[in-house]
Amino acid sequence: MRDVAPLSTDSYAGTRARVAGYFDGTATRVWERLTSDAPVSRIRQTVREGRDTMRALMLAQLPDDLHGARVLDAGCGTGAMAAELAARGADVVAVDISPRLVEIAGARLPEGLPGRVRFAAGDMLDPALGRFDHVLGMDSLIYYTAPDLCAALDGLALRSGQVVFTVAPRTALLMAMWHAGKLFPRADRSPVMVPQDWRRLQVAGLGRVGRVSRGFYISECLEVRA
Ligand SMILES: C[S@@+](CC[C@H](N)C(=O)[O-])C[C@H]1O[C@@H](n2cnc3c(N)ncnc32)[C@H](O)[C@@H]1O
Repeated sequence: MRDVAPLSTDSYAGTRARVAGYFDGTATRVWERLTSDAPVSRIRQTVREGRDTMRALMLAQLPDDLHGARVLDAGCGTGAMAAELAARGADVVAVDISPRLVEIAGARLPEGLPGRVRFAAGDMLDPALGRFDHVLGMDSLIYYTAPDLCAALDGLALRSGQVVFTVAPRTALLMAMWHAGKLFPRADRSPVMVPQDWRRLQVAGLGRVGRVSRGFYISECLEVRA
């Protein structure tokens, strides 16, 4: 078992609090709609399509048959990934810092799936959630600074054989938006998204899976293997 540097709790907790306030407040209804079949603007439609593609890419990194596997959906949002994992037979823990999103995810979970899902409102890094064969973190670590991201990944990798997650890549567009302050929060907007150069992330066993770029959705899939 590897030693892990302690998480820089001030900055991690600060980011987590902003994320929780956003997803559990102003953004709950927007997020609920974006992750449904309801009509959305053309821009949001590209985001929805990009996210569907990313979810499929992430799931493709796991075995098709997940019977007997314990999987953490880290930052589950409204629960689309958790439902897909349970459809493959997994025993899923779906955790999110936003209790309102967890409630929506629970209400949306189809009945009769071969696997099961236990929902929890809280921090995805809570060791009390236990150990897992796989961890999936889709767009849930994109708000954390590189040191906090690396510490979070170290912690998750200690309790799992495989962590598949996404970051916002340092593309020209995202970096221009970052410098122009467009990725910074306003009262009614998303918390800060931090573009990352994955090659600079100091995490053992880190590898690149691939990028999804669809309209306004740009996200890079990475994985950590024990
Ligand atoms: C952009 S949403 C993505 C949700 C979901 N993974 C999906 O792809 O639909 C990011 C989610 O991560 C959650 N999140 C961020 N940091 C978290 C943390 N430290 N612990 C638990 N959930 C967290 C947020 O509350 C939010 O629901």
